[in-house]
Amino acid sequence: RNYRSRTECRGDINRLNAPFLAIYESLIPAEEEKQKQKQLMALLDKHVKEEWPGARLFLYGSCANSFGFRKSDIDVCLAIGDADINKSEILLKLADILKSDNLENVQALTRARVPIVKLMDPVTGISCDICVNNLLAVINTKLLRDYSKIDVRLRQLAFIVKHWAKSRGVNETYQGTLSSYAYVLMCIHFLQQRSPSILPCLQDMEITYSVNVDNVKCSFFDQVEKLQGFGSRNGESIAQLVWAFFNYWAYCHDYANDVISIRTGSIVSKRAKDWTRRIGNDRHLICIEDPFEVSHDLGRVVDKRSIRVLREEFERAAEIMQHDPNPCVKLFEPY
Ligand code: CTP
Ligand code: MG
Repeated sequence: RNYRSRTECRGDINRLNAPFLAIYESLIPAEEEKQKQKQLMALLDKHVKEEWPGARLFLYGSCANSFGFRKSDIDVCLAIGDADINKSEILLKLADILKSDNLENVQALTRARVPIVKLMDPVTGISCDICVNNLLAVINTKLLRDYSKIDVRLRQLAFIVKHWAKSRGVNETYQGTLSSYAYVLMCIHFLQQRSPSILPCLQDMEITYSVNVDNVKCSFFDQVEKLQGFGSRNGESIAQLVWAFFNYWAYCHDYANDVISIRTGSIVSKRAKDWTRRIGNDRHLICIEDPFEVSHDLGRVVDKRSIRVLREEFERAAEIMQHDPNPCVKLFEPY
């Protein structure tokens, strides 16, 4: 492969700021959606507390990490203190309880990779998945949300990247492409690496928040209101960042040797992580380290076929950003 690292961006790039921001604005959920989510959470909480007084419900994923689009489903985690519980039993019990209320399509999927109860609330129109004791997801949701409060360009970039990935069919983990969570980590890493940096590395600062979950110590700086203006020394516009993001993944990233790591705020080597060869189903063809479960590569779903699809899509996007007269149309064209 021929790495054509491009440093010169098109001269009229800032003409694209307004259309990108318009797309971002059109995807942001309305305030009334948040209210409906709260209403459904309150209903679920009432049922859960009746059965398990010590349990708690947490929102996680895109409905809580600030990277969710309008009209999305919500992800909920039921936290039951006891680590030895049988998750299937809890989920079956939970489904029974919720069926007795007027919730629709209540189903316990106990054999899924992440076992859940699914349901739809006809009052708010919201669908929801409830899992049990998936607390690392609750904590990584907080980390992503905290990052998004530091510089608005993260949320703007991630919305555009997610929208691109969904339009182009490369946001499907079951087909070997990447999860939304992985794309957001790619955006955070990218903004940490700009010069001057637009985001700090929260896990490499004074610890103001620390919890132990599933034998993993999760600690980072979470007083992000103190970091307002952190990125202001860097004046790059959203259009410049979208251009540079795709240029990085198309032509600059070293797929053979590098792991992106928001935990360290930089690149770590595949060799240091022993991610140089295929073990079982983990192929490590694109490496994205989870910030807390550091042995997890979010790129592990990517196989020999889908890495080609992904890289061709990054190249297509980079070419469009460089040459196309109307990138905001072409970039999001259905595949
Ligand atoms: N998650 C995780 N590890 C993964 C995938 C997901 O911990 N390998 C957790 C993260 O907390 C993430 C949540 O599950 O925020 C939901 O993941 P995903 O469906 O990828 O992202 P959403 O943010 O819900 O995106 P979408 O808007 O596409 O639903
Ligand atoms: Mg989701």
